Amino acid sequence: MDKLLIDGGVRLSGKVSMSGAKNAALPILAGTLLATEPVQIRNVPHLKDVTTTIALLQTMGAEVTVGDRLSVEVDARNISRLEAPYELVKTMRASILVLGPLLARFGEADVSLPGGCAIGARPVNLHVAGLQAMGASVKVENGFIKARAKRLKGANIMFDMVTVTGTENLLMAAVLADGVTVLENVAREPEVLDLANFLIGMGARIDGAGSSTITVHGVQSLGGTEYTVLPDRIETGTYLVGAAMTGGHIRVEDTAPETLDAVLIKLREAGADITVGDNWIDLDMHGARPTAVNVRTAPYPAFPTDMQAQFCALNAVAIGTGTVTETIFENRFQHVLELQRMGANIRLEGNTAICTGVERLTAAPVMATDLRASASLVLAGLAAEGQTLVDRIYHVDRGYERIEEKLLQLGATIRRVL
Ligand code: EPZ
Repeated sequence: MDKLLIDGGVRLSGKVSMSGAKNAALPILAGTLLATEPVQIRNVPHLKDVTTTIALLQTMGAEVTVGDRLSVEVDARNISRLEAPYELVKTMRASILVLGPLLARFGEADVSLPGGCAIGARPVNLHVAGLQAMGASVKVENGFIKARAKRLKGANIMFDMVTVTGTENLLMAAVLADGVTVLENVAREPEVLDLANFLIGMGARIDGAGSSTITVHGVQSLGGTEYTVLPDRIETGTYLVGAAMTGGHIRVEDTAPETLDAVLIKLREAGADITVGDNWIDLDMHGARPTAVNVRTAPYPAFPTDMQAQFCALNAVAIGTGTVTETIFENRFQHVLELQRMGANIRLEGNTAICTGVERLTAAPVMATDLRASASLVLAGLAAEGQTLVDRIYHVDRGYERIEEKLLQLGATIRRVL
């Protein structure tokens, strides 16, 4: 099992280019199931979750060609299997995103029920309730969601909670439904808007994506399109935090600064000198330690839960005391125990991590438990005294393309060991 070996104490400096957003590429790849002609997708990140999704599409009969420059062509004209098998779904919860497209286009879908994961139970009841509101009959048996619908009907759906993939699943179900669907209290994440723009490119009629209410006028079928995935805002934020923690100065390129407002506000509060261009962000700490900040996660455009672990790591080496409150997932503080083992003065009170920064963390062998927790441990290793070994970094590989290569580019001393 791969590990990352990091020699801490190096200030990150230089330029680094971002990859396409994992959480946009996954729903967009699922959305190719809706198309009756081939679809070209560009800026697809080379990640484990992407290759898993491609494998899933192929088991259903889609022809997928991975080209150069991270482009992927999907031809879903001859889908022969309307099932997402357990062995694939268990490795990636986002497989649930094929449910809406399969049901919308073929009237049938058997998708293995995604289990929980390290950060929480992560039920999909809102996905199912929305499809039932559109006329689908949905049974959950033998660990599978079995959905059937002659043709989905437009409906008015109010989400009890903001759910990103729930919004995406119902959006993809609605584009081929008979009539108008109004989705209220939807997720406003940039990745939802990216999916909507992709679907519009295929001929879908969608209004309001990016706001709290989306209106969809169903159409008979969707054609092909070419689409470029937006840059990954969480990858961007992760490298910016790395520079803030090490007193460095970096420039992140090929990114979308307008998708990171809440994160940039907090980094400026932490003392970072930040300038922004159309597709780049420059962060300079002028060699200083960051100042501790208070963050509270909430649905977009508020502070993203996917940046929570990284800010726990920042507070661990900051001047003063900061609080990090997690309101989205019930168990997303696995990284706190590992940061404590690196000397962080951090404790949990309910869903809040209270941390008083220390001058230097001390290197230790640590273990990743989920994608963003693993990223926070890599960042902590960069700022620690000595050599940190981060184990189980398959979690990192799910969400960060070529992480050690990009960190080496920024001057870090890091290598992958078996
Ligand atoms: C998406 O997960 C992201 N994954 C997550 O990113 C991200 O952390 C999360 O949104 C929140 O922003 C992808 O986009 C592939 P939710 P998702 O449904 O859609 C509850 C990463 O690190 N809920 O918005 O699964 C749920 O339990 C990953 O890249 C229900 O109760 O999250 C949670 O408490 C981790 N019933 C809250 O809503 C439902 O039917 C928000 O979850 C659906 C959700």
